[in-house]
Amino acid sequence: MTIAINTIEPRTDGAKAFLARAAKQILIDGRWRDASGGARFETFDPASGRKLADLAEATAADVDEAVASARKALTGAAWLGLTPSARGKLLWKIADLIDAHVEELAELETLDQGKSYRTGRFGEIPASAEQFRYYAGYCTKILGTTIPTSIAYQPEGKQIFAYTVREPIGVVAAITPWNSPMLMAAMKLAPALAAGCTLVLKPAEETSLTALRLGELMLEAGLPAGVVNIVTGFGETVGAALTAHPDVDKIGFTGSTEVGKLIVKAAAGNLKKLTLELGGKSPAIVMPDADMALAVPGIARGIFSNSGQVCVAGSRVYAHRSICDQLVEGLANSAGKLVLGHGLDEKTDLGPLVNRKQADRVAGFIAEGRSEGAEIASGGAQAGEFGTFFEPTVVTGVRPDMRMMREEIFGPVVAVTPFDDVEEAIAFANDTDYGLAGSVWTQDLSSAHRLAGRIRSGTVWINCHSYFSPELPKGGHKQSGWGYENGAQGLDNYLETKTVCSVI
Ligand code: NAI
Ligand code: MG
Repeated sequence: MTIAINTIEPRTDGAKAFLARAAKQILIDGRWRDASGGARFETFDPASGRKLADLAEATAADVDEAVASARKALTGAAWLGLTPSARGKLLWKIADLIDAHVEELAELETLDQGKSYRTGRFGEIPASAEQFRYYAGYCTKILGTTIPTSIAYQPEGKQIFAYTVREPIGVVAAITPWNSPMLMAAMKLAPALAAGCTLVLKPAEETSLTALRLGELMLEAGLPAGVVNIVTGFGETVGAALTAHPDVDKIGFTGSTEVGKLIVKAAAGNLKKLTLELGGKSPAIVMPDADMALAVPGIARGIFSNSGQVCVAGSRVYAHRSICDQLVEGLANSAGKLVLGHGLDEKTDLGPLVNRKQADRVAGFIAEGRSEGAEIASGGAQAGEFGTFFEPTVVTGVRPDMRMMREEIFGPVVAVTPFDDVEEAIAFANDTDYGLAGSVWTQDLSSAHRLAGRIRSGTVWINCHSYFSPELPKGGHKQSGWGYENGAQGLDNYLETKTVCSVI
């Protein structure tokens, strides 16, 4: 497939000005500065191949300073002295500033990551603002309990008075991936700040621009110095230094299961608390009575949006044999209609993958699957001048033992498999190390909720896929992670409980 790609300039003055500014810096203790060694690395537009900016490559010494700054801010009067209401207002102000800059942020995200402008402008950037609004409301509602006790040994004539207090967990290292950079950062920053924590944020090296712009906006909102520090750089260096750091209390990580396991080991030194949002291989079960007018576009959206670079992407579809051919045809048709192009081109449905490496990785899965007998019903090829695009792809004949059925592809590739009865569908769906999400497509309410109960995953959607909102907890069962983001559980991640027991 040929894709005409021109370098497209952003339209907003904000994005133009941000890109035109000198090399990007790191944020420590409220000040922007170069990395201590002065080293830099580049970030690119994956659609046009254009270099966008130089970024500061932080060192272990910078990480030490960032952590020390977060530690100092944690108990500093500027942060600790804010009333819960004032903290809530601050979070709300950050949300308002994100909304006020939504077009600029969407343009920067598209340029850096590749995604279609629409995805950022109407999806991920407003959703990032909503993260801050949702948790802003919690600031005034972080409550302990009083506890009637049954302890027998209080002194004569005395009583026991016991209660709990919720306290911020401390200094948080937030490490985010490149698929939805701004939203993934907001999903950690908002609850951590609501809880009263301080942070060091390390965005993915491929896509750091919106995190840096958000850092500027957070300062503009009035966030005290040191409450959020931002260090850019590579996982193996900056990420590893943060995860092993003895003065970090908690890690919030989203990324690959492989790196998640490395973080578990690195965190053992001082037994950091961990929230890990890892990979997925999410199934969609399509029952014979499914409303196909809903299922076909819904499943297509669930796998192809953001070019499949979504942790919950519905990459394994199990369709009842009676409707399987119809579903394959429908998905292939949907795939064929999607327009690939530069994300800033308004005709574009699917932008490139984040970089050539990721597109090559997807192509590797397809080549291997084909050699093992998988058949391509639609798409299947890498595209674009720089090989960063991948056609939306529908595959059949993928056996359960094949690597493309077991590993997270993180590209626009869906494998469709027929089933004959519901027990077989459930067995297929649960035949995976992952447990992030899944969907069920049927018009029978009883069967929908029964199936939802039997899929081993953190989220199950019924007659939809990839629906998110800050109030819906999101987390991985099995090897898809530890803990939950969003909802009340997302706040709990950043709080400790202290019990106070007194004789009065
Ligand atoms: P990754 O897991 O290496 O990157 C995620 C984040 O972790 C980045 O900020 C990176 O700098 C950091 N990181 C990397 N190594 C680290 C280390 N040793 N210590 C601390 N932090 C570290 O993901 P990668 O390699 O970019 O993508 C590879 C595959 O991972 C993708 O094809 C996809 O299957 C999966 N992935 C899944 C995501 C999800 O949301 N479930 C997000 C990103 C990637
Ligand atoms: Mg980039």
